[in-house]
Amino acid sequence: MKLFDLSGEVAVVIGATGALGGALADGLAEAGAKVAVLGRNVERGNARVKAIEAKGGQAAFFACDASARGTLAEAHEKLEAKFGAPTILVNAAGGNDPKVTTTADNPFEKIPLEAWQANFDLNLVGGVFLPCQEFGPGMCKRGKGSIINIASVSAHLPLSRVVTYSAAKAAVLNLSLFLAREWATKGVRVNTITPGFFPAEQNRKLLFKDDGSPSDRTKSIWAHTPMNRFGESRELIGAAVFLASSQASSFVTGADIRVDGGFLSQTI
Ligand SMILES: NC(=O)c1ccc[n+]([C@@H]2O[C@H](COP(=O)([O-])OP(=O)(O)OC[C@H]3O[C@@H](n4cnc5c(N)ncnc54)[C@H](OP(=O)(O)O)[C@@H]3O)[C@@H](O)[C@H]2O)c1
Repeated sequence: MKLFDLSGEVAVVIGATGALGGALADGLAEAGAKVAVLGRNVERGNARVKAIEAKGGQAAFFACDASARGTLAEAHEKLEAKFGAPTILVNAAGGNDPKVTTTADNPFEKIPLEAWQANFDLNLVGGVFLPCQEFGPGMCKRGKGSIINIASVSAHLPLSRVVTYSAAKAAVLNLSLFLAREWATKGVRVNTITPGFFPAEQNRKLLFKDDGSPSDRTKSIWAHTPMNRFGESRELIGAAVFLASSQASSFVTGADIRVDGGFLSQTI
């Protein structure tokens, strides 16, 4: 039995146009899965497909806005026609938005309701709720599926300045546990990965100054990370392949794997 072989699997990676989702799409393809790259950005989506194909993998891009049920359904129909029914779903669309980042001039009480709701729409509704509604029932019907939701260390303890994002990611953990229990007898496992800090587009403004040097926040993150560095996106692949593989993690559901250089184990 090949524990980490994903040949014959069809993986849908939403947010594969981004840093972490892109690395996960690469990793699942390297393990043998056919990968549907989903996101809004056509250019980055096509570039990801080319990169996967260049390494001998199979992938195709399907444009979708994860917060809009109709475009998700459309992408689902097209990818199923091309690759067959999905057996793996990775929900990696999400991120912080500077509009909801608190500062001395923009404290918690001034966060605009619309911006709060938009960030929940991205991280919880489009990030997990709608894709699970779209892809989960088919997996349950066929009795096979692995859903991997990307949480955050801020889901466990709210980080300073990103209260909205933290609350939405805490809800991602909670919803994932609910679905793990709900679908456990239907052959569908639902788990989360909690990444620590990985430089990406959505957190660039928080982590780096305009000249590219590390921000004070970055210095504080490194000081609080026992491994004393950021993660590299490919360091998430092992956890994802493990959770995606029905051989390797057949009895694992409702789990959260922290890939954070020890961030959440740090006290003093
Ligand atoms: N980087 C970190 O340190 C870190 C840490 C913990 C958790 N995370 C989580 O990891 C996930 C990936 O983030 P990242 O850091 O890789 O950021 P990123 O490079 O900015 O990627 C975010 C992705 O989300 C997609 N996205 C945003 N809105 C979308 C929508 N409405 N529909 C479909 N796709 C949408 C974007 O694709 P399009 O622009 O193509 O739509 C993009 O591919 C997020 O859930 C983030 O919260 C990141």
